[in-house]
Amino acid sequence: MSGNIILIGFMGCGKSSIGRRLASRLGYAFLDSDELIVESAQGKSISDIFAEEGEDRFRERETGALQELIDSTSIVLATGGGAVLRPENREILRKIGTTVWLYADPEILFERATRNRKRPLLEVENPRTTFNTLLESRLPIYEEAADLKIDASGLSHEQTVESIVYAVKGRASRDA
Ligand code: S3P
Repeated sequence: MSGNIILIGFMGCGKSSIGRRLASRLGYAFLDSDELIVESAQGKSISDIFAEEGEDRFRERETGALQELIDSTSIVLATGGGAVLRPENREILRKIGTTVWLYADPEILFERATRNRKRPLLEVENPRTTFNTLLESRLPIYEEAADLKIDASGLSHEQTVESIVYAVKGRASRDA
């Protein structure tokens, strides 16, 4: 298989854990846009970036991190849940590789996304309401940004990885 794979999707859908397994299955390098942002901010956490610099500055950092990857090869990239929001970023992701939208049932997403306190957007008085609003507004954007959609609800990590490999190969042979 050739070509980079980019995982997009809402917070809690498993982009990082699936991405890591997918990369090792393919012999690709694994990158995580949030980790790249933290590195570029000299180790400042995502929560601290949001708190000290604001969301807009975080989004600028996110665009910068994605831009750096345009010439990468043989990578699996896990993106932050909001990385597809800027049209500019969607353009960059298209240049990097095949985008796979990792979907899961909202209940699963909510449980996973609020399991720890690492997601500043959900550190609010009523996380459920914010979650619902964000998810609803983003679904059409994931749809637009995705080359492929994988519903991981009810699948093990291994099954999800195999589904992605199968779908990406199928798309590549259709395009050939
Ligand atoms: C965000 C998702 C987070 C992180 C930041 C903003 C979002 O990444 O980039 O907290 O806007 O959905 P994960 O999707 O990996 O949680």
